[in-house]
Amino acid sequence: MAERSLVLIKPDAVRRGLVGEIISRFERKGLTVDALVLRTMDADLADAHYAEHVEKAFYPPLKAFMTAGPLVAAIVSGDEAIAVIRLLVGATDGRAAAAGTIRGDLSLSNRENLVHASDSAESAEREIKLWFPELS
Ligand code: PPS
Repeated sequence: MAERSLVLIKPDAVRRGLVGEIISRFERKGLTVDALVLRTMDADLADAHYAEHVEKAFYPPLKAFMTAGPLVAAIVSGDEAIAVIRLLVGATDGRAAAAGTIRGDLSLSNRENLVHASDSAESAEREIKLWFPELS
């Protein structure tokens, strides 16, 4: 089934010059980039995007990291895109993520883990509304 997902290529990936590498992995898989913008997340957008995590202990450092510099927000679509993208991205902690995944190959951290990808169709639509209201 055709789906779309909200992908954030996080500030560590922009800083490390990995934006092209990450987008290329999605494109080579056969997924389509439908929208793309370079943007710095402000505090309000971080709290809305991570609404389910704001009370968690890891949220303050996560928020500081995600708002510290520009990131790339994208809508990526394709057959079963949500699950396919999460497979390509790999487990949350780059130290545990499987080799061959983006995090497994390129990250050594569970905070600076390069990519966020929607975890369900409901999350995708909620997140697309926050980042690309004109396309929701
Ligand atoms: S949970 O609680 O299982 O739903 O959390 P998880 O899906 O593993 O992670 C949710 C997002 O929080 C980030 N995260 C962290 N950031 C900073 N420090 C620590 N310790 C930490 N643990 C998890 C994780 O990268 C997820 O970010 P996104 O942007 O959703 O990938």
